[in-house]
Amino acid sequence: MKVTIIGSGNVGAFCASLLAQKDIVRKIVLLDIKEKLSEGKSLDISQMLPIIHSNTEVVGTTSDYSKSENSEIIIITSGITRKPGLSRDDLLNINEKIIHSVTKKSIYFSPKSKFIIVSNPLDVMTYVSYMTAKVDSSRIIGMAGILDSIRYRYFLSKKLKISPNDIQTLLLGGHGDSMVPLYRYTSISGIPLQEFLSERENDGIIEKTKKGGEEIVNLLGTSAWMAPGASIVEMVEAILKDSKRIFSCSVFLNGEYNYKNIYLGVPVILGKNGIEKIIELQLNKKEKNLLNKSANHINNMINKLKLF
Ligand code: LAC
Repeated sequence: MKVTIIGSGNVGAFCASLLAQKDIVRKIVLLDIKEKLSEGKSLDISQMLPIIHSNTEVVGTTSDYSKSENSEIIIITSGITRKPGLSRDDLLNINEKIIHSVTKKSIYFSPKSKFIIVSNPLDVMTYVSYMTAKVDSSRIIGMAGILDSIRYRYFLSKKLKISPNDIQTLLLGGHGDSMVPLYRYTSISGIPLQEFLSERENDGIIEKTKKGGEEIVNLLGTSAWMAPGASIVEMVEAILKDSKRIFSCSVFLNGEYNYKNIYLGVPVILGKNGIEKIIELQLNKKEKNLLNKSANHINNMINKLKLF
């Protein structure tokens, strides 16, 4: 099995290294337009393999898409990233062109591939990739919900002094600032969150989660990569092992939750075909309102796209 990662910056390279450690794919291809970057990073990861007991072959290429041929999964991390003062939305028009172009080249060499999109603004870039690839939407998936969920679980675990491993949650909506927390659907080893925390206290943690990416941008001067990289690997593993795990992912909605022609985060079952099923939850008024706001925000950006 082969996985190609387009974009060998922080997210792409970290994702490649984590994936290599899992030893679940035969080959990882790292591809970037920046000369020598993928070659150098793939060599570094390859030299780590004897210690991590992995047989994964990791190769790098400068823009040679033929090396990505017949990939099972293509991960798109390309595009400009956030800098302090830049929101995810500010990246829209530059990244639109980049995502359009890399999707076109990738789908040509891997017409059956599943795509995981990571570039920001996430939900809109996943839409761009879908409109470009013109394949079934079950194969074009945005990675955001897992990242927002693990940030939430981390902050919750700190507040409650409970292992993050025992916290289960689902989020809806757009990535980051417009995410929709589901207090009612969050539990700790099966015990509803409300037994531990009032909705008001939870709101404070949600605010921290929404700003989780920005906090790191302000500290490091660039976007996070470790938690995003690990989130991508969760999705890759679920698809390759056909494990039918439930995650929140950004997916194309065609009537589900009463939305059409939009990519939005909702719970799904992930398996060998990509999105195997979209899970529709009965939302209360507050949740519906928040999801509506989030969808409006994404729709406004979709309307600003130049290519579609
Ligand atoms: C973040 C970027 C990857 O949330 O969107 O860290």
